This record gives sequence, structure tokens and C-alpha cells, in this order.
Amino acid sequence: MAAITPSILNADLADLAGEVARIPSADGVHLDVMDNHFVPNMTFGLNTVESLRKHTALPMDVHLMIDAADRWAPAYAEAGCESVTFHVEACEDPIRLARQLRALGAKAAMALKPGTSIEPYAGMLRELDMVLIMTVEPGFGGQRFLDEMLPKIARTRQLAAQAGLELAIQVDGGVSEATIARCAEAGADTFVAGSAVFRSPEPDVMVRRLRALVTS
Ligand code: DX5
Ligand code: ZN
Repeated sequence: MAAITPSILNADLADLAGEVARIPSADGVHLDVMDNHFVPNMTFGLNTVESLRKHTALPMDVHLMIDAADRWAPAYAEAGCESVTFHVEACEDPIRLARQLRALGAKAAMALKPGTSIEPYAGMLRELDMVLIMTVEPGFGGQRFLDEMLPKIARTRQLAAQAGLELAIQVDGGVSEATIARCAEAGADTFVAGSAVFRSPEPDVMVRRLRALVTS
């Protein structure tokens, strides 16, 4: 079943609770944490995520675009995020971190920048609940979807199938009505959409439209 997890990056960050309330049909809310080091942009951190927990019952899917993920990621699981995504490029020991996140009751997810291959991680997919394939360079919303990432989505799905795993594959960046079907055909089942949802006059209608495009 396809999951739509809108990103609030391009929503009104001064009214996070209000913005999340505009997407009741979503399968979760995608929270982009940026530290101005791993990516050239800064958003919010743990305090904000902890505060938002009190204002929404939607699953919180945090995407950590921060250095030293090993050190900071577990606190987001402790804060009640259902899913915690770290970037493999910012992580010293992805297997140890994934196990720690699962032990804390969160789904463990690993993100790959466009230039990072899945191949070196083929043997550790069983440690993960989800792989996030970035379909833009992380840092900003509203960028153009990178079609070149479709083979990486397909390869990740193939590796998971070969290992007999029910791995979720999430795509993030430039996902819209125009691109979502391509992602699903390649093997993605979890879809982040930021500007497509929050620049729409009716964000919840867009959530349902996106889901309909990938549900047969
Ligand atoms: C970008 C973030 C995304 C961003 C996507 O680095 O990780 O979650 O909000 O925005 P759109 O959907 O506009 O590309
Ligand atoms: Zn994201």
C-alpha cells in the first residue's frame, strides 16, 4: 500500500501544528531537520519535533540532514518519531545506529544522496525498515526531480526482493503528480512531496490525488 508522507519544509514553519492539521489524509508527516553543515540550509531540531509531537497524531517521519547522525538520531526516536532517517554519508556505523533506533521502537531508515550508490549497503538492508532514495540534492524544496535516480530505486527493490525483505523504499525531492507514477513503477512505495502538497490550495486533496496515482 502506497504511503504519502508530505514534507512541511515549504509550509509555514511558524505554524507547524496548523499546517500538519491541513493534511489529515496523509500517512505521516515528513520533518526535514537540517543543520547548515551536512546541507547548506537550516530548519529546526529536536525541540521543535518534540513540541510537534503534542499537536499531531500522524506518524512523524523525521529526515535528518545533519552531520554526526550516530550521535543525534536516537533522541528523535525517544521524542516519539515513528520513523528516523539518517544519511549514510553522515553516519559512522549505520548498522549500529539502525539497531539502536529499532531498539528504541522506531523504524530505522537510511537515506542516500543522489551520488551515493546502494551497492555497498546491499548486505545490510535487513537492518533497515526503509531506504530513502533522494531524487534531488538534499537541502531545499522545489527542485527538479532527477530521473537518473529511477535505476537506483529499481536496484534497491531488486536487492530487497532477492533478500526476501519487505523493505519500504521512499523517494524525496520533486515528487509530484507528474513524477510519482515513475517512482512507483521503479519500486518506490513511500512518497515525500513538499511543494506539490503545500503549494496546492487544498493540500489534503493533493495527498489523496497523489495516492490515487500510485494505487491500482
Ligand atoms: C529536501 C527535503 C525534501 C523537500 C522536498 O532536501 O528532504 O523533503 O521538502 O520538497 P519538494 O517536494 O518540493 O521537492
Ligand atoms: Zn526530506
